[in-house]
Amino acid sequence: MNVRACAAQVIYQVLEQGRSLTDALAAAPNKLDNPKDKGLLAELSYGALRWLPQLDCLAQPCIAKPLKGRHRVLHHLILVGIYQLKHTRIPAHAAVSETVAASRQLNGKAFSGMINAVLRTIQRQADEPSSWPAPTVEYAHPNWLIKALQQDYPEQWQAILAGNNERAPMWLRVNQRLQTTAGYQHELEQAEIAAQTADAGPDALLLAQPTDVTRLPGYDQGWFAVQDLAAQQAAHLLPKGKQLKVLDVCAAPGGKTCHWQEANDNQLAMTAIDIDAGRLARVQQNLQRLQLDATVLTGDASTTDWWDGELFDAILLDAPCSATGVIRRHPDIKWLRSKADIDALAKLQSQILRNIWQMLKPQGILLYATCSVLSVENRLQISDFLQSQADARLVPINPDESIEMPGWQILPGQQQMDGFYYARLQKLDKS
Ligand SMILES: C[S@@+](CC[C@H](N)C(=O)[O-])C[C@H]1O[C@@H](n2cnc3c(N)ncnc32)[C@H](O)[C@@H]1O
Repeated sequence: MNVRACAAQVIYQVLEQGRSLTDALAAAPNKLDNPKDKGLLAELSYGALRWLPQLDCLAQPCIAKPLKGRHRVLHHLILVGIYQLKHTRIPAHAAVSETVAASRQLNGKAFSGMINAVLRTIQRQADEPSSWPAPTVEYAHPNWLIKALQQDYPEQWQAILAGNNERAPMWLRVNQRLQTTAGYQHELEQAEIAAQTADAGPDALLLAQPTDVTRLPGYDQGWFAVQDLAAQQAAHLLPKGKQLKVLDVCAAPGGKTCHWQEANDNQLAMTAIDIDAGRLARVQQNLQRLQLDATVLTGDASTTDWWDGELFDAILLDAPCSATGVIRRHPDIKWLRSKADIDALAKLQSQILRNIWQMLKPQGILLYATCSVLSVENRLQISDFLQSQADARLVPINPDESIEMPGWQILPGQQQMDGFYYARLQKLDKS
C-alpha cells in the first residue's frame, strides 16, 4: 500500500476507533509497498495528529460535503496531504500526486478529483493564516487541556503547549554493567552516530538524530535501552543497596525496573508487577536482553491478591496517568483523553498509593512517579496523601518542596526531557 494511504488508515484507527498511535503504527508496516517508507509513515501520522485542528481548519472551507462513514478515511488522507504541504520539505507536486494516488487505494476513486482540487487550493494559499479562529486551533490542543494547563501554570502554559508540539529527541540509557557512558559514546562515534552526554543523567546519551535501534551498536548484547532522560531520574532517586527487597508497581514495559537493577549491579531482590500480562511480556524481554533479573507478576496494584504479605524496603510506583507530559512522543493523547479520564485516573492513583503504602517497611522509601503535568495527578495527589497519612513524610528531592507543594515537576522540553513528576516519601516508625 502507498505510504500516504497507510498513514490515513493509521489516523483513522486512532481518531475513529480509539486505537493508540503506537499500536496502529506497529501493525501498519507490513502493509507498506516499500518497507523503507516506515520512517515517512511515522512522520506523516505523527505530524497529522500533532497539528490536527489546524489541518482540519484549513481543509474544511475547501470541502463542500463532509466525508463521513466509510469515506471518513479520505478526510484523514486530505489532512495527510495538507500536512505534507505545510510542514515537510516534500515537493508540493509529489505530495499532491502521491496523495491523490493513495485515494484510489482507499476506494476513493470517485473523490480523487475533489482531493486534488482541495490540495491544489491549499498549495496556492499563503503560508499560514494571520490568526486562527480559536485557542484549540492555535495551540493544536483540546480545550479542556488548555484550560487545565492555564490553571496549573499561569506563567508557563504556552511554553508547555509549544513543547508538546515539538518533535521528541531520542535518549539512550547505557547499561553500566556492560558499558560505560563514554565507552558507548565512542562505539556510536565509530558507527558515525553523533551523541552527547547530559549533566542531569550519568547514564544518558542524547542522539543528534533519532535512529532505528537496530542500527545502533550492541542492541542484542544489551548495551543500552531507549529511555527519556526524565524517566532515567527514577533510578537515581530510589534507594541503592545490595539485597534490598524492592517492588516496582505498574512496571511494564520495564524501563525503570531495568534501570533500578542496573544501578544496583542486578543485586536487588526485585518484584515487578503490572495489570497487563501482554505488556509484562515486554518486561521479561527487556530483562533478558539487558541481562537482569526480577520476579515478574501479573497483578492489580489496587488489590493485595498478588502480595505474599512480606514488606518491601523500597517501592517505585509509576502510576497509570494521563501521560500529558509525553504528548510530544504520543500526540494521539490529545485526542484520546478527556477531562473525565483525568478524574478517574486521579482516583485510581490515590487508591493504588494507599494500597501499596501498607506493603512498605517502616523507614522504607516510596517513589511516586507519573508522566503527567497535571497537578491533580501530582502535587495535589501527594499533598493530600501527606496530609491524611500520619505515618508518611516527604523526603524532598529539591530544597523548595513542602507538604503543600511536594515533589519535582519536570515540564516537557526542560533540559530536553519529557514532562514527569516525582515525589519521594518515607514511612515513619509506629510511635
Ligand atoms: C506509565 S506505565 C509504566 C511504565 C513503566 N514503569 C516503565 O518505566 O517502563 C503505567 C503502567 O501501569 C499499568 N497499570 C494500570 N493500572 C494498573 C493497576 N491497577 N495495577 C497494576 N498496573 C496497572 C499499565 O498496564 C502500564 O503498564
